[in-house]
Amino acid sequence: MLDILEIINKKRENKELTKEEIKYAINNYVNKEIPDYQMSSLLMAICINGMSDEEIFNLTDIMINSGEKLDLSMINPTVDKHSTGGVGDKTTLILGPIVASCGINVCKMSGRGLGHTGGTIDKLESIPGFNVNLTKEDFIKQIKEIKLAITSQTGNLVPADKKVYALRDVTGTVESIPLIASSIMSKKIASDASKIVIDLKVGEGALIKTKEDAKKLAELMIKIGNHNNKEVVCVLTDMNEPLGFSIGNALEVREALDFLDGNMAPDLKEVIYKLASLMVSLGLNIKEENALNLVKEKIENKEALNKFKEFIKYQGGDLDKLTVSDRVFSIKSPYTGFVKEIDALKIGELAKNIGAGRQTKEDIIDYSVGFVLSKKVGDYVLQDEELVKVYLNKKDLSIADITNCFKIENELGELNPIIYEVIK
Ligand code: URA
Repeated sequence: MLDILEIINKKRENKELTKEEIKYAINNYVNKEIPDYQMSSLLMAICINGMSDEEIFNLTDIMINSGEKLDLSMINPTVDKHSTGGVGDKTTLILGPIVASCGINVCKMSGRGLGHTGGTIDKLESIPGFNVNLTKEDFIKQIKEIKLAITSQTGNLVPADKKVYALRDVTGTVESIPLIASSIMSKKIASDASKIVIDLKVGEGALIKTKEDAKKLAELMIKIGNHNNKEVVCVLTDMNEPLGFSIGNALEVREALDFLDGNMAPDLKEVIYKLASLMVSLGLNIKEENALNLVKEKIENKEALNKFKEFIKYQGGDLDKLTVSDRVFSIKSPYTGFVKEIDALKIGELAKNIGAGRQTKEDIIDYSVGFVLSKKVGDYVLQDEELVKVYLNKKDLSIADITNCFKIENELGELNPIIYEVIK
């Protein structure tokens, strides 16, 4: 007879848990037989002592089997993409249409914002009429017809992760490599894409702060994927400064449209080209450089832009009705010099505070607010030249709060690359 206290004690003593013990803990937590305080204690022991590969494979498997699974075997090839979360990260909105216009089925289940990071579903909901709740049948029908569908995670897909993640969020147990890896991979495997590209964000604005930890997480996710017959590639990308120019839901949709129309922030371009060419190369089984040429062609001939418009319309969205606030303020630089740093974490927090994200689960997002950067890291700025535009609506913001997110220096310092590494 298994007992939760013995399981907690065993993990506290850094002993390996059996599959039955992990299953007992997870399933009984989902069924409400185990209370939050005992589950938190077990999660903290895992955070501190880690897990063996065997334990992680078992945990992932148990989470996958806690709910419904998608079967996409009738659609081929399918490639999925996941981001570990960042600020100004509108890559899914841009990648989906590019990759679909290259002839690959993009079946994407996305999430809402978490903490200071934004979520694709919130961004898409800023488009009036857009339906983020597709049924399984509609999801598959849409992919068959236009090769691209993005829907929110169904309630039944990996319910164990939903419950455990909510608890981790409030018990200081998010930052655990085994828990992050099994949480992400269980959802990717249950949603059944055969090839998966993971954009693993590293830096102050990300969950993972160092390249060493990012490498460990990448290797673990690849192992879990291979164990489940999925090909996984992780790209470690910078998340110290916000990605691209805009932060905020409708503003990011507008930037996605601009990008596909050829107006690209350099850092966003670098990330998109890398992720898109990897996805296309995996999906079509072609060399990455050939995939990159195809990606460029689909952007240049506007097929990707048209795919974006087609997909939005198909899911009921009306891009003509996309609105951003007209209460706009131009924030000027207090100094002349080079922009050395733009703090993604601080900007993400500020965006949340002015209404672009949620403070509590019940909050209603203000899609019209956010920031558009006029300068990026490495740019030269004159005193009183515009640094950033602030779009406010119901809430206010002090000028010091936003200018404090920028570090401007007289001389040009060492700048970090955007793409750190690709691990296969
Ligand atoms: N994203 C997830 O889905 N799970 C985690 O644990 C962290 C990031």
